[in-house]
Amino acid sequence: MTTATSAPRLAPGPKGVPLMGSLGPWKRNTAAFLLGLQRDHGEIVRMRLGPFLVHQVTEPEAVRRVLVENNGNYVRGPLYEQFGVVMGKGLLTTDGEFWRAHRRAVQPVFLKNAITDIIPNIIRATEEMLETWEAKAAAGEPVDLMTDMLRLTLVTLSRSLFAYDIKPDSAMLKTIVDDVVEVMFRRGTATEMLPSWVPTDRQRKILRIHRVFDRIVADVRRSYAETGEGPLIALMEQATDPATGEPWTDQQIKDELLTVYLAGHETTAVSLCWTLLSIAGHPGVQEELDAEIATVLGAVCRRWRAPSRSRTPRWSSTRACGCTRPSGSSPGRR
Ligand code: HEM
Repeated sequence: MTTATSAPRLAPGPKGVPLMGSLGPWKRNTAAFLLGLQRDHGEIVRMRLGPFLVHQVTEPEAVRRVLVENNGNYVRGPLYEQFGVVMGKGLLTTDGEFWRAHRRAVQPVFLKNAITDIIPNIIRATEEMLETWEAKAAAGEPVDLMTDMLRLTLVTLSRSLFAYDIKPDSAMLKTIVDDVVEVMFRRGTATEMLPSWVPTDRQRKILRIHRVFDRIVADVRRSYAETGEGPLIALMEQATDPATGEPWTDQQIKDELLTVYLAGHETTAVSLCWTLLSIAGHPGVQEELDAEIATVLGAVCRRWRAPSRSRTPRWSSTRACGCTRPSGSSPGRR
């Protein structure tokens, strides 16, 4: 009698080179490399990046399984340790009971119903941006889409969650976000291995990020102390540790504030850039969207009416557009 032993099924992936695996192409052009993996190997891909065995999961149901249905099976792993250099111990860098307690504390502002409350802030920030675009168009000047999307999402997030009117200086904002992305995502360079007291360019960037964000965190907390407004900062200021009953420490509030500022605005800005870039390359889609906007919101959209929840199902083209996948290289980041 023979016993069939089924070999473990391994996801397909690039062969890479001994020791380094696929670190070379990953470092050379991360976006192109990751897109190429999906194109060449499919939606679950196995690869080596130096000492790490990594899987890229892009199939929506599989992503849901990892992040939602079966998340107890996964920890964030070594790639996220690097995020801690900027975000400390926040929702994006912790697991287990610590993460669960913090997640529960802030959950109310991430529920579906809470989204409706931020629509006026999205409209206001968009109108402010469009005014600057009109002035630039009149003067024949180009706009820097990435910088403007970063500003739009940062201003909206800050007003909506912290009732704090952040005034991002464009040059500073772009530099800081570039620094954050550079510091958070390992490039496999020697300076990443050096202790933090060695005055490398990387360490200087980390110090600069913390200087800027220390000021933002202090301003947000001062503003909350004065006005009592801001749904997320209110939850954070009132949160307690379920084991000790103690309020969150200053460090915990800083780490979570930073996590939401960073996780919430750069991702959204990049998504908006890709969406606009993709639409710009497909005039037919643009016409379809214009027609849908005119139908759903009324003929003249210069002064937008907030779309009510009952209207949302009519946004079929707009929703489809939000799911567009990029097919070229990054519009400027990562
Ligand atoms: C298009 C926009 C966005 C994308 C692509 C995106 C992507 C992601 C992904 C993939 C994760 C899971 C990471 C992991 O658990 O390993 C995540 C988590 C997270 N995101 Fe986003 N995100 C976006 C927008 C936002 C916004 C607008 C906010 C806040 C205002 C936000 C805040 C967070 C937070 C706090 C977590 C950690 C959640 C937890 O583990 O409890 N994200 N995001």
